[in-house]
Amino acid sequence: MKLARRLQAIKPSATLALNARAKALAASGKDVVVLAAGEPDFDTPEFVKQAAIEALRTGFTKYTATAGMPELREAVCRKLEKDNGLKYAPEQVVVTAGGKQSLYNCFQALLDEGDEVIIFAPYWVSYPDMVHLAGGTPVIVPTREEDGYAPDPAAIKKALTPRTRAIILNSPANPTGAVYSRATLEGIADAVRGHDCFIVTDDMYEKLLYTGEPFLNLGNVAPDLVPRLLVSNGLSKSYAMTGWRLGYAAGPKALISGMQLVQDQSTSNASSITQKAALAALNGPTDTITAMVNEYRERRDLFVAGLNAIPGIRCRLPEGAFYAMADVRGLLGKTYKGKPLTDSLQLSEALLNDFLVAAVPGDPFGAPGYIRMSFVTSREVLQKGLTRLRDFVAALG
Ligand SMILES: Cc1ncc(COP(=O)(O)O)c(C=O)c1O
Repeated sequence: MKLARRLQAIKPSATLALNARAKALAASGKDVVVLAAGEPDFDTPEFVKQAAIEALRTGFTKYTATAGMPELREAVCRKLEKDNGLKYAPEQVVVTAGGKQSLYNCFQALLDEGDEVIIFAPYWVSYPDMVHLAGGTPVIVPTREEDGYAPDPAAIKKALTPRTRAIILNSPANPTGAVYSRATLEGIADAVRGHDCFIVTDDMYEKLLYTGEPFLNLGNVAPDLVPRLLVSNGLSKSYAMTGWRLGYAAGPKALISGMQLVQDQSTSNASSITQKAALAALNGPTDTITAMVNEYRERRDLFVAGLNAIPGIRCRLPEGAFYAMADVRGLLGKTYKGKPLTDSLQLSEALLNDFLVAAVPGDPFGAPGYIRMSFVTSREVLQKGLTRLRDFVAALG
C-alpha cells in the first residue's frame, strides 16, 4: 500500500522497539536485564493517584478546554516562575498529552516545507523524525564527549542559514546525561542572538540533576531571548508519570495559539483525569522527587564505576537524566562467535539475544560506537547487568 511520502523518512522509535522486544522476551519467561527503558521504575506518588481517583469519582471525565483546564495552566505558570524564574501568563501555556506532543505541536505550528531545525548530536531519537513529519529539515550539529557534549558556538553559527526556524536544546540530555553550564548557555545565546529563530528548550529532565547546582534554562542567562523561547516540559520523568501522558509548553502567545490549533484538530485536550493528577503534582510536595534523585545518583555512581571497570568500555559520568552512554568502540573490531563486531547495533543485538541485556545502540541517537543504558532499575538488576556485560566482553575474541 502506498503511504504518504513524508512517512518515507520516518523511522520507528528505536528505544520503544527495543523495549518492546525486551518485554516480549521477559514475557516468554526469559530473565532479561532491561536497561533500555526511558521511564522511572518508581511508582507515581500516592497523592497524585488519589487526585485522579477523585476526578473519576466526581465525574471529571469530560472534555476540557483544548489547551488544558485553566487551574492547570495557572499552576504551570506558577511552577515556571518559582522553579525557573520565567514569567508566563496562562494564555501562553498549552497542556499536552506528554512532552512529545508539545514538541510535535511546536514543529507542526512552526515549520514550512524545507525549514531547518538545528539539533545537536547525540540527540533524542524523536527530534529529527518530528521535524521531518512537519516537512522540515533537521540540521545535525555534532558535539564532542571531550567537551562534555557542550555545543560549539562557532559550529552553531556555521549551521545557521536563512531557513533556520528553530534550534533545540535538551539539558539534562537524553541520551548523554550532559548538563549545560551557564557559560555553555551564554555561548549558545550569543551564537543565535543575531538570527531570527526560535529556541526550543526541552526541559523534560530538569529535576533529574546530580550536580548540586540549580537547573538553568537559556532564558535565565539570556532574558532578551525569552520572546522567542519555547519551553517544553512535562511530568513523565520527574513524577514517574510516563503512562499518564502529561506535558506542557510555554512561549510566545502566537506560537502557543498555533500549537493549540494543531491540538484542536488532532488530539484535543490531554486526559481530564490526568490533568487533575497533574494539578495535584504541581501543587504538591516535592519530597518524592528528592528521594528519586538521591536513589538515581547512587545507582549512577555504582553503574558507571562498574562500566568503567570493564576492559574496552568507557563511560562518562552523566550529570543529569538517568542514562549512561558508554563508549564501546574499544570492543568493535573484536570477534564474536567467529565474526567481527562492526557496530553498536550488532553489539546490542548480541547482548540481547545471548546475554539477555537490553541496551540501546547509539546509532539512532546520532552516536555510533556508543550504547545507551538507563539506570532506572534496582541496584541488584544493575549489578546483574554489569556481570553479564563482563561475560559478554570475556566472550569476545
Ligand atoms: C529528551 C526527551 N524529551 C521528551 C520526552 C517525552 O516525554 P513524554 O513521555 O512526556 O512524551 C522524552 C521521553 O523519553 C525525552 O527523553
